[in-house]
Amino acid sequence: MSTEIKNLKDLQNVEYSLEKLFSEAEDFLPLLGTDYVELYVGNAKQSALYYKTAFGFQSEAYAGLETGLKDRVSYVLKQDKIRLVLTTPLTSDSPINEHLRKHGDGVKVIALWVEDATKAFEETTKRGAKPFMEPTREEDENGHVIRSGIYTYGETVHIFVERKNYQGVFLPGYRKWESHYNPEPTGLKFIDHMVGNVDWNEMNTWCEFYKKVMGFAQIISFDDNDISTEYTALMSKVMSNGNGRIKFPINEPAEGKKKSQIEEYIDFYEGAGVQHIAVATNDIVATVSAMRDRGVEFLYVPETYYDDLRERVGDIEEDVEVLKQHGILIDRDDEGYLLQLFTKPVVDRPTMFFEIIQRKGAQSFGKGNFKALFESIEREQENRGTL
Ligand code: FE2
Repeated sequence: MSTEIKNLKDLQNVEYSLEKLFSEAEDFLPLLGTDYVELYVGNAKQSALYYKTAFGFQSEAYAGLETGLKDRVSYVLKQDKIRLVLTTPLTSDSPINEHLRKHGDGVKVIALWVEDATKAFEETTKRGAKPFMEPTREEDENGHVIRSGIYTYGETVHIFVERKNYQGVFLPGYRKWESHYNPEPTGLKFIDHMVGNVDWNEMNTWCEFYKKVMGFAQIISFDDNDISTEYTALMSKVMSNGNGRIKFPINEPAEGKKKSQIEEYIDFYEGAGVQHIAVATNDIVATVSAMRDRGVEFLYVPETYYDDLRERVGDIEEDVEVLKQHGILIDRDDEGYLLQLFTKPVVDRPTMFFEIIQRKGAQSFGKGNFKALFESIEREQENRGTL
């Protein structure tokens, strides 16, 4: 009896210290959500039209020559909670050109919404983060914002945004962007997760970075046994912040008979970077069919994928025929199921793409779809001659 009580106490102690560890980890960098995602692109005006037309983003804010900027232009697009910023340099000596020359169009900034951007900067840099932007106060007639930033993998950065004292449309310096062209939204709600591709043997380094520097915890791990086809393989770990609002899976290539999609990405992006942005919808069929009608290209799986679907995922509310028609993938875990579909790369280099995801209880990432998905990507790689 006494041993049992002792064990129980020990167990409670362990639980207590784990909890303490976790709440400490949670506390030093509380994140309220994703604030915005900024892409450096070759022609922001035309990219903005693409994201409005094809994805249903709405015109939100603008900064450029007309607002006093001399060297760059930025368009801010919004759909529900998702904010995209598209930025293009206006002069040859802007450092943004260097980023574009090397990486092509891609994500530069994953901005995180915080209560205190100065503290976020101090806490992360003291734990080893490389500074990108010292805490900076920006203001206009609508109040003030404090932003700070640190580097993550590759040349990607996290900017911490403190906006509790700001009522303007986006950030100081931006004005409302009025447009007579306002295509309907497609039902995209918020960013579910954002995936980083890093180089060979770098996954653990960057997972450690998110653990140590940002207080994240690893929630899932996949190795090449989970994620491999006859030809290609990759490894992945999913890092999450304390409240689970921010999830960053990190991929690295693994040895396979042929070149994996991660290697292809690293080759064309010329380094580590954001591979995909997963956006949530409440009605994936409506979202995907609207996007497809507006010109977005999605990966396709062979019809045989649906043959054993019932055995694999059991009963689902959706009509399998409709899902099949749209090529939507389904996976189940202990908590429920999810529906997902991936676009082809949205830029000319085979680098960044989007995932559309609808969660029905499941909190996982579609492990059961990896094989079908990879085979689908391999067919695309084959076409590109990069397999
Ligand atoms: Fe994903």
